[in-house]
Amino acid sequence: MPTIAVIGSVNLDIVAKVARLPKPGETVTGAELAKYPGGKGANQALAAKRLGSDVSLIARVGDDAAADEALALLREGGVDLEQCRAVEGVATGTALIAVSPSGENHIVVAPGANRMLTENDAGAVEADALICQLEVPVPVIVHAAKSFDGFFCVNLAPAAEIDVTVLQRADLVVVNETESEWYGASLEACDGYVATTRGKGVATLERNGELVTEASPPTVDAVDTTGAGDTFTAALTVALVEGQPPDEALQFACTAGALAATAMGAQPSLPSRRAVEELESGE
Ligand code: RIB
Repeated sequence: MPTIAVIGSVNLDIVAKVARLPKPGETVTGAELAKYPGGKGANQALAAKRLGSDVSLIARVGDDAAADEALALLREGGVDLEQCRAVEGVATGTALIAVSPSGENHIVVAPGANRMLTENDAGAVEADALICQLEVPVPVIVHAAKSFDGFFCVNLAPAAEIDVTVLQRADLVVVNETESEWYGASLEACDGYVATTRGKGVATLERNGELVTEASPPTVDAVDTTGAGDTFTAALTVALVEGQPPDEALQFACTAGALAATAMGAQPSLPSRRAVEELESGE
């Protein structure tokens, strides 16, 4: 069982299921409201755990009621939260999410306590792999990239300016289509794998500008794509650290990501290892 550490965000997702996503300046009414645990870091941690890894999460929450709600499924799922601490007088991160009937979303994040993570929190990580994203201060990720000596994955989401040393250090960079365009040629600085997801379309794994392999997600009834990219990131890291060949690892990640879109909410829909393997084998 690989050990995976995640440095990242914890949010409480306030989700409105709408008939269609609003245009700028438009009001759409008639939504159904629900709350789910979320945050890219927390989603990736729980996804890796459900896929069979031993996982710890380094994060910050507020000293409010939202923190308990945001951490509930991580606790229930057995993610090690020893380094997930509450900060006094600060709110837990919150994401406002609108989801359309086809599962597409708009997300606005108020980071709250996620901003309070510091470089000191990233210095002594021990695990086979470390997964980071960009919903916590970038200097924390830069420090983690320098000091960690195992398999280092960075999911460049949401897109933000990032020190080139992070890309040079990464064994795996994960972006979606939009992020890939945003980063453009700067991704060439990565010596490791660059994985690009394209929603329902073909995902690719490249190294030094050369295509290593590609894979298609299975067709599923998507109801909410929130957390699908996080699941893909966690699954690809788990599979590569387990030593799966790149083509199998990418297919595993595509299948896991697709399954994560089949139920409402980021974390309730994160698939088990068994569910991914059953879908892959056509059972
Ligand atoms: O990637 C999905 C996540 O992005 C949501 O859970 C939300 O909290 C935002 O961080």
